[in-house]
Amino acid sequence: MSNSSECETCIVIAIAGASASGKSLIASTIYQELKEELGKDDIGIISEDSYYRDQSHLAMEERVKTNYDHPNSMDHALLVTHLQALKKGQPVDIPEYDYTEHNRKQSVIHFSPKKVIILEGILLLTDEHIRNEIDVSIFVDAPLDICFIRRLNRDMQERGRTLESVVSQYSKTVRPMFLQFVQPSKQYADIIVPKGGKNRIAINILKAQIKQLLKHHK
Ligand code: CTP
Repeated sequence: MSNSSECETCIVIAIAGASASGKSLIASTIYQELKEELGKDDIGIISEDSYYRDQSHLAMEERVKTNYDHPNSMDHALLVTHLQALKKGQPVDIPEYDYTEHNRKQSVIHFSPKKVIILEGILLLTDEHIRNEIDVSIFVDAPLDICFIRRLNRDMQERGRTLESVVSQYSKTVRPMFLQFVQPSKQYADIIVPKGGKNRIAINILKAQIKQLLKHHK
């Protein structure tokens, strides 16, 4: 997939993998460290979760039934439109997501074009149109039992969930959709990163690759 994008103005790095595999930790580590070298206006992170479809028309008891691990739960077309606009040098308004409400917030984040855009999300590599916009694709390959433990802790502490709801959602949708969609999308990754978000060597290699690509984009 490397160099498949027609991007002249920015580099797009996609970080996919199971829920709670450590995608956002890799993304934020690369962001923090490259920000020092590039400047904060030249690098940014976009989370695929921002593109969950608006569910304002649904009551809460309906929203909890949505399968949030199926590609249809995401407005990937809007993400592609935003990436294409950013590559043309146009700013975009990215929806903000509220996991407690299972819905978009009223507010948006104004995102200006950057030299480096880091995308992170479970289903990014399942969509051909997104893949066409990506310069480097990464799949974080952490063991599923570790991912589940992390997800349980996170969802109870940060996303307002009960133990029962996390376990039920995991067995009904998270695990089956991982097997059906997320895991097969590993075939599209340029780099498979084991050991989750604390893999220092993988992060160093990714930073070096981004800097290498930036040289060619100048
Ligand atoms: N999700 C949910 N309820 C919603 C919307 C999304 O439970 N209303 C869950 C989906 O089930 C999906 C997960 O959010 O599995 C996607 O977020 P995840 O990848 O777990 O979070 P990140 O912080 O992006 O990933 P990581 O922990 O790997 O950094």
